[in-house]
Amino acid sequence: MNNQKKILITGASGQLGQEFVSYLKQTTFQVKALTRLEADISHSLGLADLKAEILLFKPDFLINCAAYTSVDMAEDKGVIAERVNSDALSAIAVMAQELDFKILHFSTDYVFDGSGDEPWTEEDEPFPINIYGLTKREGELILLESGLALVLRVSGLYSEFGSNFPKTINRLLGERDELNIVDDQFSSPTWAKPLVEFVVTKLICNFELFNGSLYHYSEDGECSWYDVAAIINEKHKKRLNAVSSNEFLQVAKRPAYSKLDNTLARKNLGLKPNTWQENLKEFLKIIQ
Ligand SMILES: NC(=O)c1ccc[n+]([C@@H]2O[C@H](COP(=O)([O-])OP(=O)(O)OC[C@H]3O[C@@H](n4cnc5c(N)ncnc54)[C@H](OP(=O)(O)O)[C@@H]3O)[C@@H](O)[C@H]2O)c1
Repeated sequence: MNNQKKILITGASGQLGQEFVSYLKQTTFQVKALTRLEADISHSLGLADLKAEILLFKPDFLINCAAYTSVDMAEDKGVIAERVNSDALSAIAVMAQELDFKILHFSTDYVFDGSGDEPWTEEDEPFPINIYGLTKREGELILLESGLALVLRVSGLYSEFGSNFPKTINRLLGERDELNIVDDQFSSPTWAKPLVEFVVTKLICNFELFNGSLYHYSEDGECSWYDVAAIINEKHKKRLNAVSSNEFLQVAKRPAYSKLDNTLARKNLGLKPNTWQENLKEFLKIIQ
């Protein structure tokens, strides 16, 4: 690996962005991390700021961790979600062509409609059922067509940085005597730490991958949110009630079954994931 390469990170204050910044500090890559304050990709002035930073830093890779990720709010704020998750990627792809860098981008299991009960492969046709998923699908198409990007779809990200389902449930179980958790939406959670380690050690600097490739990155096994909460509750021993998603008033529809099949990443990228239970238990040791 040529670790003199330069990596620019957008969305550096998000959970994945912070995980990259933290991991890359231990390497000799040259890193520039930009938050929304430094480059707001939802409008042309912010994109001009991003271009100015790129001209100065001259990255080999741009890791895009910036996204409009609020699934429920996106139903009302579709215009801004589209600008960040889709339109901005057209502008970034043009910059990549002009200024000669590659793009690593993250998409989501929410591009699928959630039908069926077989893990979704890269060959399966996406059919988003909410605005967030729709804008993420538009964004991944733009980058795949650019031929300059590698797109990884992930599901249920969590990290010690930022807020996420395991951290929230761990806090609530510490505060309350009982919790209701949805048990009819199936996928698998993804710990950002091993994801980032995999990306940096196996993918970055593999220039031939950045040609419009799409891969599913997922941990082994599948589960409902209730199953995830049940592992977190092993320490708290509170009352956990399994409830149907109809009992939760969520603005956006969620796919019922969105487990991502990782067979292709295993075969072509050398992915050897832990089970989601192993990773979650390791994560809980860090945050508890
Ligand atoms: N979280 C999940 O469960 C999940 C699941 C599947 C896929 N993904 C994908 O994984 C990637 C990383 O997600 P994450 O969980 O790390 O998200 P996150 O914690 O919400 O972070 C998103 C980052 O994007 C930044 N951002 C938002 N609007 C921006 C704008 N207009 N200009 C520049 N930056 C902007 C945010 O900045 P501010 O904090 O300042 O707003 C934040 O730093 C995203 O592509 C997401 O779609 C996430």
